[in-house]
Parts: sequence; C-alpha cells; structure tokens
Amino acid sequence: MSWLSARSVLYWAEQSATGVTLRDLCQIGLDRNLRREHGVFLHRELRIRLAQRVLELESLPYRLGERSGIRDVIEWYTGFVHLLEDKRFLLQFGVKPIQQPTESPVPYTEELDKEFTMLLTRVFEEHSEVIQAMAFGVQDLIAELREDYSHVQAEVDAILRRFFTARIGMRFLLQHHIESFRNREGHSGILQLACDPEVIARKAVEGIHHTNPGTFTYVPMHLHYMLTEVFKNSCRATVERHAESFDDPLPKVHCHIVHGDEDVTIRISDEGGGIARAALPNIWKFMFTTMKKTPWSGRRDDFRTKPGDSACNPLQRPKQGGVLAGFGVGLTLSRLYAQYFGGDMKILSLDGFGTDVYLHLNRLGTACEDLPQATPTNESHHESSIIQRPRIRSTSWF
Ligand SMILES: Nc1ncnc2c1ncn2[C@@H]1O[C@H](COP(=O)(O)OP(=O)(O)OP(=O)(O)O)[C@@H](O)[C@H]1O
Ligand SMILES: [Mg+2]
Repeated sequence: MSWLSARSVLYWAEQSATGVTLRDLCQIGLDRNLRREHGVFLHRELRIRLAQRVLELESLPYRLGERSGIRDVIEWYTGFVHLLEDKRFLLQFGVKPIQQPTESPVPYTEELDKEFTMLLTRVFEEHSEVIQAMAFGVQDLIAELREDYSHVQAEVDAILRRFFTARIGMRFLLQHHIESFRNREGHSGILQLACDPEVIARKAVEGIHHTNPGTFTYVPMHLHYMLTEVFKNSCRATVERHAESFDDPLPKVHCHIVHGDEDVTIRISDEGGGIARAALPNIWKFMFTTMKKTPWSGRRDDFRTKPGDSACNPLQRPKQGGVLAGFGVGLTLSRLYAQYFGGDMKILSLDGFGTDVYLHLNRLGTACEDLPQATPTNESHHESSIIQRPRIRSTSWF
C-alpha cells in the first residue's frame, strides 16, 4: 500500500459510519434533489465504510489478513478508497491532483453526479468475488489448523458475519444509487414500491399459499436470493430423504406468506427429514455443510480471483460450474440479508420429519441498516438516517 493510500485509509476509517433506513432510501431514490444530496453523502460514506473494512481485515487474528484471498480484498478495497478520493483531500498531503488521475470530485452538480454514478458502477462490478476470496482465506486457515479450527471457529464466524453485513450495506447503497439514476417503473432504485412476495416466491418454486395477499416496499433481489437458498435446501433434503429412483413421488415443499402489521412472514416447510437438534447450531456456522463433496475441495491451489469476474451476479454467491450446493454459506448469508433491514430468519425442525424456515421481513422500512458495531479505530457509529440529520456542508468534511 502506498504512503498516500495508507494515509487516506487511516483518515477515513477514523470517521463514523452513518446508517440509513429503507424508508429514507426509498424517498431519496424518487426525488432528484434528495438523490443528488445523497450522492454527496455517499461519496464520503463509502470511503468511510471501505476504509474501516480495510483496517479491520488488516488486524484480523491468525494472520488471516495476510492470506491469499483476504489480502486481495484488502487491496481491492484500498483501491476503491483511492478511486473515490477528492483532490482537496489529496492536496492536504501536498499531492498535486494532476498526479492522481483517479481523483473523484464531490458530486454536487448533475454532471458530476453522472460521472460519480459511472464510477460507482465500476466499483460495484469490481466488488465481485469477495465472498469467494474471503472464504478462500478462511479455507487456508482451516487447512492449517485442521481439527484445532473448532477452537477458533466462533471467533472467525463473528468476523465473517461482521464483514459480510458491512458488505451487504455497501453494495446496497452502491446499487441503489446506480439504479435510481434512471428508475424503472414502480421502483425507487433497487427497491420495488409494491413488492409482491408471492411473485418472487413463484420465480423460485411452485405451491405458494398466500393468506392475505398484499405488497410492501422491499428489495426483490434480496428476497429472491433468500428464498432460492431456502428452497434449494428444502428440495435437496426432500430428494435425499424420499427419492430412491428418478420417478419417485416427492412430498411438496410448502410456502406460506402472511402480511402482518409489522412484518411480512414467509414460512417454508418441507418433509426432508428435519435436522437433529444437536446439529441445529451448526447450520449457522460459515462453511458448515453436510454435502459430502464440497466445491471447496481441491480449489485452493488454483485460486485466482480477478475483480469483475461475476459482475452479472449481483449478490456474488460463490459459484462453480453446475454445483448447486455445498459451500455452506446459504443460510448464514441469507440470515444476514434478512437482518440487514430489521428482519430475521429462524429454523425449527421436526427431527425425523421435516424443517420449517421462518423468514421475517420488516414491512415498515423504518429499521436502520444493521451496521457492524464499532471498528477497532472507531469508537461510535451514528444510527440515524441522512434525512433526519441536519444537512452536511462539504466544508466540514476536511
Ligand atoms: N431444509 C433442510 N432440511 C434438512 N437439512 C437442512 C435444511 N436446510 C439446511 N439444512 C442443513 O444445513 C446445512 C447448511 O445449510 P446451508 O444452506 O447454509 O449450506 P449448504 O446448503 O450445505 O451449502 P450452500 O452454501 O450451497 O447453501 C446443510 O448442509 C444441511 O445439512
Ligand atoms: Mg444451502
């Protein structure tokens, strides 16, 4: 890392990150002026969030930050901080802007916002392969520690949860700003104003039961991801338990959607044999899977991550050829997506019969982003949205 990058990462990591509510983001995406102001906020906020992740990754235990994969993520994020830098910040350190072709001005005007949005598109696309890169670093540690890994697993899981939650937030803000540049009909950025969970669920599976049909404002992409992961698990369990030959009749996977005053709850029930009570805590561990052959095996040596590899996959799930399951990240990541805006995911199992997954989604949109707690260098985070805060003037930022 260059001297300037290190300086700028340290500077931004010490600032406080600010959470945003889904309701505010919806308003911001629909109002050109608010959106422009939000762009100005984002220009600073992204550098803070990226820089905090860099410092956090660098200070991970078990030399995780030095391992292939995680080291790449540190490099990419440092590069993004640098890419979003403003010339006034560089001038502070006596660097002439002309020497920094990547500097990005604060997007005060429509023209600058257009440039900024294009830059964000680039950052978003290059933000890919991160889950996979992080997981490879952890796989490296697992291979080194072998059975001793169980002693450090809880700590590593907490690190990954924290990191992925922060990443969900960053990608959400990036994508919302990009998409709200030209809103699609019925959308504010990536939020669908009248998101019908039944329509999303039908994209993933048949046999949906909707008690009181309705819609709410939500992120269809997140919902689709969570439902696909849960349905995939249910289908796999059902097939493994009931299918001896290819034309065996299989019990249906049921999906029940209920709109409450506060939550939209989706219950997915299968008859795939359930999960033993003793094994239940394991399913929330990163990289826990009961698949015999995992897609990780034999892949560490040829790990070559390259930014931009899977830009077409917005949620960046690790993928390899036709492998559908076995990474052991489906449930943990889905729960993080649910929790990101105040929802949750719970699993109840009738061991020997089947599994019920409850997906609770906050329909009011007032829950603040689930930002990770304070970083090592940052004592406190604001938990307010930009709409409720007094307007920030650029001069106070430097
Ligand atoms: N509906 C279910 N019925 C039975 N077991 C389940 C069910 N859902 C999850 N499990 C158990 O939980 C484990 C973890 O699930 P998770 O979705 O996180 O990972 P995975 O399916 O193994 O891999 P992937 O990352 O590809 O989803 C599964 O390997 C399986 O043993
Ligand atoms: Mg799964």
